Amino acid sequence: MQQKTKLLQAHSPKDIATAIALLKDGQIVAVPTETVYGLAADAKNPDAVRNIFVAKGRPASHPLIVHIASCAKIHEWADHISPLASILAKQFWPGPLTLLLHKKPTVNDVVTGGLPTIALRVPQHPLLLEILETLDTGLAAPSANQHKRLSPTTAQHVMDGLAGNIAAVLDGGPCSFGLESTIVDLTGSTPTILRPGPITQQMLEDTLGMVVLAPEHHTEHVAGNMVVHYQPRTQTVLMPLRALQEYLLAPENSTKKLAIMHYSSISLKATNVLFQVMPQDKAAYARAMYQVLHQLDKAGVEQILIETPPNNIAWRDVLDRLTKASAYDKR
Ligand code: TXA
Ligand code: MG
Repeated sequence: MQQKTKLLQAHSPKDIATAIALLKDGQIVAVPTETVYGLAADAKNPDAVRNIFVAKGRPASHPLIVHIASCAKIHEWADHISPLASILAKQFWPGPLTLLLHKKPTVNDVVTGGLPTIALRVPQHPLLLEILETLDTGLAAPSANQHKRLSPTTAQHVMDGLAGNIAAVLDGGPCSFGLESTIVDLTGSTPTILRPGPITQQMLEDTLGMVVLAPEHHTEHVAGNMVVHYQPRTQTVLMPLRALQEYLLAPENSTKKLAIMHYSSISLKATNVLFQVMPQDKAAYARAMYQVLHQLDKAGVEQILIETPPNNIAWRDVLDRLTKASAYDKR
């Protein structure tokens, strides 16, 4: 259903009240989090949650994260909770860590896409925490982008992708991490990272004092684990610096309009190429990454070439998103 999407401002108490009223009414509102903007609806209202899937064009079998106001609320959503959950929650909540636990049977199946598990997170953004406390419910919220597209790190990104499909966007400024939360599965005997993120394997192992698994391949039906995901519309290719330089020098590429996202220094000059230098610091790179990809995607180039980031634990989340952004997709 097409509707006029309101752009609400985080500094306006009236606008915050409007966002809260819309959420209470079962509408969908995009809200800022410290990771990426989320497409929020009352997680206890199955109709409202169903509308998230419609607005995003996301298959109903792909489960959503439920955002809660505090660790104390875990028990409203999960059962048979691993003792590791409270250790991780104490260390990393509020923050960019999502815990996968056993779902309480009373929680509706719509939000978990029919799965017996539930993903929970206490976000760090003060405005979202305030909203969660006022509403006294959980907010189901996937990233506020169309299915398979780039995640949004500003209110404008959300408007560009979803205006007309949702009731409102609450503009709380750019996201401070700029990359989705780490997801850790605590339903098995060994904690397992399902999606790398700002809380690294090392940080989790140091906190728990035990091994945390981080398999390369996961089940396909989990949306964030699909090979093709987080994609710009422009064809995007990931390559090491040397391959990138060779590509630029190849005669057949000399007239192509290209954009290059690199963090090493490149001495080449070319009028057909838009050079975008990225920070060498991982956190700063992550914060800028989606913003830059959104920008380059609008620049009218034929291809976006991305220098492969360092292949080490600290960069794993960035590498994961860039690999998915550049995976081949027949569109
Ligand atoms: O940082 C974030 O996590 C952001 C902000 C808005 O909180 N949210 C986000 O949601 O990235 P989404 O839906 O774009 O990605 C959530 C991932 C998906 O890959 C989904 O499949 C997985 O979490 N997930 C959610 N519930 C799950 C479950 N019960 N079992 C397995 N995976 C689950
Ligand atoms: Mg997403």
